[in-house]
This record gives sequence, C-alpha cells and structure tokens, in this order.
Amino acid sequence: MSSSTITIVKNPDKKPKPQSKDIAFGKTFTDHMFVMDYQEGKGWHEPRIVPYEPLTLDPAAMIFHYGQTVFEGMKAYRTEDDRILLFRPDQNLKRLNKSSERLSIPPIDEESVMDHLIELIRLEQEWVPDFEGTSLYIRPFIIATEPSLAVAPSKSYKLMVILAPVGPYFKGGLKPVQINVEQQFTRAVKGGTGMAKTAGNYSSAYQAQAKAYGEGLADVLWLDGIEKRYIEEVGSMNIFFKIDGEIVTPALSGSILKGITRMSIIELLKKWEIPVTERKISIEEVYEAHQSGKLEEVFGTGTAAVISPVGQLNWSGQKMDINDGEIGELSQKLYDTITGIQRGHIEDTEDWTIQI
Ligand code: COI
Repeated sequence: MSSSTITIVKNPDKKPKPQSKDIAFGKTFTDHMFVMDYQEGKGWHEPRIVPYEPLTLDPAAMIFHYGQTVFEGMKAYRTEDDRILLFRPDQNLKRLNKSSERLSIPPIDEESVMDHLIELIRLEQEWVPDFEGTSLYIRPFIIATEPSLAVAPSKSYKLMVILAPVGPYFKGGLKPVQINVEQQFTRAVKGGTGMAKTAGNYSSAYQAQAKAYGEGLADVLWLDGIEKRYIEEVGSMNIFFKIDGEIVTPALSGSILKGITRMSIIELLKKWEIPVTERKISIEEVYEAHQSGKLEEVFGTGTAAVISPVGQLNWSGQKMDINDGEIGELSQKLYDTITGIQRGHIEDTEDWTIQI
C-alpha cells in the first residue's frame, strides 16, 4: 500500500462531547485516531484512521526504555460562520521532522501526512468546539516500537494523531500567571535536545514544576544550563519581555523550542513596526528593568498557551510584579489578533490558516 492510500474504520460508538467552555486541557479524546507504521526496508506504510483505542505494545518496545519519541501540538478552530481552520499546520509537520532528525527517527512525508490529518479532522469535525477560548488540540506523535534493549535507533515506529477538545491551557485563561525562575535544575543545553519536541524535555521538568506548583505558581522559567543567567523558555511556552517599548525574546540558541506562535508574534510585531529583537537576555537584565520601572509586559506564547500574560516572576525570593498583575495592552492586542486570525474573524493577510 502506498503511503498516501488511507483506510478508514469508523467507530460505531460515539462519546459525549463537551457541553461548555470549561474543558480541561488534554483529558477528553475524540472517537477516532490516525495511525501509520514504519518498518526499516519498507518505509512509512499503512496509513489508517481507526477507532480511538488503547495500544498493544511489546514491553521491550524501545519507546519505554530510551525514550525515542517526538510529538507536535497544533489546533483546529471553529469560526463564527462554522468553518474549520488550521493555523500554520505545515510548520508543525516541518518541526516534527526536525525533531525526528534529532532523535534519529525516519522522516515522514509532510504532504501526505497533512492530507491524512485533514481527513481525520474532517471525520471528527463535530468535535471542534465553538465556545470562546476553545479548540480541537491535535497531537501527532511518533514512538519507537521495535522490541529491543539495544541502545540504538529502533527499526520500527508508529506515527499516531489523537485529537482532544480543549479550553485554555492555564486554568485562569487570560488571567496573568505567576512563574518561578528555576535555579537548581536545567531544561536543556546547546547541543542537547532542547530544540526538539521530545518527551524527555518535558518529564525532566516535573521536579522543578512540582516545586513551583507547591508555591502556588503556574510554571517554571528556565535559565541557560551553563551560566544560569540567560533566559530560555517556560515549560509550556516561549517567552517575551516588553522593556521600555522594545520587545525582546531569547534568540534560538539550539536549546529553545522554535515556537510557531513565537514566530507568528515576531512576524506580527515586525508588520506593526514595533521593535522586536531576538537576543540573549539575562534574568539580571529583566530584574534591573523591573527595578527601574521599564519592565512593561511579559507574556508567553505557545500553541496550547496561545498568549499567556505573566503577572509575576519569582526569582531567588525577589517577586517581580508586572503591570500590577494585569494583562498588558500589547499582550491583549496580540492575543486578540492571533485568536482573531485563528477563529476567522480577523482577515488572514499572511495566509497562515487553511480551511478544511
Ligand atoms: C503545545 O503548545 O502544543 C505544547 O506542546 C506545549 C505543552 C502542552 C507540552
């Protein structure tokens, strides 16, 4: 079977769909999923849409032992006039292949996987919620399936796509979050896997996150692993600072995820002729800007997080309150614009969305 001929097995059972905008992130899944296999010598084959169900895997499957896996996060949005839009999905599949390259996973054919993904979302279109702040989260992922304890790339893989109707990633929605600047642990270093969307980058953050949660904070801001000075990213999003009118975000150093929302925000700011710079920025610089009253806004960006204003940074016992804990004017404008484009009520002059 060619990698582009898909089979579809319909699920006779239909689960109930969420009935309000309060949908917990990533807890409810739709009726179907996409699966495709890879075997050395055969390539990616047998694309199929099947009922959502548990997997059967050999306990020696390599994913369980050395974590050879990558994933993506994208969203489908329902517009007011009932169309369904995807936001820059080509960028997600491109990044999936970049992550795969880093994890020695064979690349997928982006075009045919895009077609299959669209087919899956069309089949599940009733699951795309229409409440404000909601969407259908799309989670493509690849796992190593070869039963082997050898420390070497697997010879077989599964690509799967599951779908989850979701509300805001942070419980308070647009309410500014409080973030702990992590000083003990490190997320990634240059030359490691920080630029890849791979499981280990996330599970290695849990200990630091638990500390932050214990103090009532929403997430962790990572500093560089060598000097513990330069800002990298938050656990679930990239980060931007508005300092004295200029927008600064950490440059992509190899240890930071190349966020698609990040890229879109930079492009929007440039279009609006608001100064935006990708460079190294230290936590001391942020602290000094705060002390001199120049730290005007801080916000995170991500597919799940969209634009999440940061109301407080907690660094070594110093609590930096930002914009009196309120969402800043620019953060609000960026949120309105990006969600407006995603939900189809602001004209998409950049050709970022595709209608399915
Ligand atoms: C996303 O923004 O889609 C992510 O993957 C972040 C997180 C939920 C792990």
